[in-house]
Amino acid sequence: MSINERTYIMVKPDGVQRGLVGDIIGRFEKRGFKLIALKLVHATPEHLEKHYADLNGKPFFPGLIKYMASGPVVGMVWQGLDAVKTGRAMLGATNPLASSPGTIRGDFALAVGRNICHGSDSVENAEKEIKLWFPEGVVQYEATLASWIFE
Ligand code: PPS
Repeated sequence: MSINERTYIMVKPDGVQRGLVGDIIGRFEKRGFKLIALKLVHATPEHLEKHYADLNGKPFFPGLIKYMASGPVVGMVWQGLDAVKTGRAMLGATNPLASSPGTIRGDFALAVGRNICHGSDSVENAEKEIKLWFPEGVVQYEATLASWIFE
């Protein structure tokens, strides 16, 4: 666990269409995470197949790719203490029916096939996903708030 841990968080097409981008960004900002990369992109099926390569063969895979390619997504990299695990906790359980109220999915979603957002599930996968979505790299800067968030 490091204060510089990075995670890849993505608002899926339903989150963009429903106007939830600002709320999701706000939650990560207010929690104390630092935004170091951000882009709005309409991803191709080929790109999404790389992102979800581990799921190729699952019965829901074709539907997942179609949904994710149906509109733009917002890809972000957030940095901070335990960013991967905490990011996943903020998203809530993958199936929104099991997501606690107060989480993003628990507040805004009902169906696993329209679950608003994605978050890396391990530090290793976060690094892979960051390279895939931000091959140009992330932005380095000093966050002035850091000394009020970390001892
Ligand atoms: S699995 O089967 O346990 O490997 O899948 P899981 O870890 O629960 O989820 C991995 C990603 O697949 C998405 N998913 C689905 N999409 C559409 N339809 C169905 N039925 C479905 N089941 C799982 C799930 O949202 C995860 O996507 P990300 O983007 O990682 O949240």
